[in-house]
Amino acid sequence: VPFLRILGIETSCDETAAAVVERDAEGHSNVLSDVVLSQLDEHSAYGGVVPEIAARAHVEALAELIEEALKRANVSLDDVDAIAATSGPGLIGGLLVGLMTGKAIARAAGKPLYAINHLEGHALTARLTDGLSFPYLMLLVSGGHTQLILVRGVGQYERWGTTIDDALGEAFDKTAKLLGLPYPGGPAVERMAQAGNPDRFDFPRPLVGEARLDFSFSGLKTAVRQAAQDIAPLSDQDVADICASFQKAVSRTLKDRIGRGLQRFKTEFPATFPATGEKPALVVAGGVAANLELRGTLQALCDKNGFRFVAPPLRLCTDNAVMIAWAGLERMATGAAPDALDVQPRSRW
Ligand code: KG4
Ligand code: ZN
Repeated sequence: VPFLRILGIETSCDETAAAVVERDAEGHSNVLSDVVLSQLDEHSAYGGVVPEIAARAHVEALAELIEEALKRANVSLDDVDAIAATSGPGLIGGLLVGLMTGKAIARAAGKPLYAINHLEGHALTARLTDGLSFPYLMLLVSGGHTQLILVRGVGQYERWGTTIDDALGEAFDKTAKLLGLPYPGGPAVERMAQAGNPDRFDFPRPLVGEARLDFSFSGLKTAVRQAAQDIAPLSDQDVADICASFQKAVSRTLKDRIGRGLQRFKTEFPATFPATGEKPALVVAGGVAANLELRGTLQALCDKNGFRFVAPPLRLCTDNAVMIAWAGLERMATGAAPDALDVQPRSRW
């Protein structure tokens, strides 16, 4: 394994981020810097991410952020082996800013460019933080994505399940908005739920019991709206009860969906792990992974099924550039060719 050091750039949503990550010849990896600028303040007044505001904020912040990442890592561009930039999926304005910047640096400094799929970044993070070996399962639950992915190897991913409507974080955000709670909704709903009665409302658990591994959350949001209308005006206790009941429905849904995913994994890879004595792993990523009740549900499910539950530190679970640098490094280490400088960003990928 050659020594590799990579500069990563992430601009696919509302975080502008740059990072430097390296791996030595023994395979030890090091995060040399990890700079993230959240645009939360600029979007919160609108109750969600505004694409045009996001793109402009990336333009304003990115160059300085990259300099900061290099400075904190105590390296210059001469000392990095490659540039890795997110090229999709995400908001096209932001992707253009990050990828064009990556291309320009690659061209000017004469370094190879790796155009990274944002989801691949999330998928490979657990190998940096926990040294996982392939294959493993990954549940990505953020404001934009809800996916269950089989990670077979670098560049080898199978999507086993996805949402057919809202992402899970989006369902939290919309529920919060309906109840007059602040954006982002996840933390607010979780906080309110602590004082609530989870059994007061029997909210739907979409797709529970179905063999396919997909998710659906828009019906749940509709049920919340209906319940809120039925008992309006809402007292604080009503809001707390709705939040607790909502979270319970989500928790039960995940238990069913992911439980099926673990079973499928066992069926497909019966002999992989006993040989090494290593348990198979379920990795969780995305902002919703911060939710303690959902974490508890997943942990219990893993314990019951003989899986190891891996939740990387939240800073690396949410959007960041370390995961992009790392994915570039993993690709480079497999000997994969870099991308051509005319590579285009892909909003949907
Ligand atoms: O990965 P992330 O930081 O960013 C993007 O999606 O781009 O995820 C943000 C999402 C938001 O929808 C937010 O409401 C949700 O993660 N979230 C949570 C919690 N903290 C953040 N959802 C449930 N419980 C939480 N504690
Ligand atoms: Zn993400």
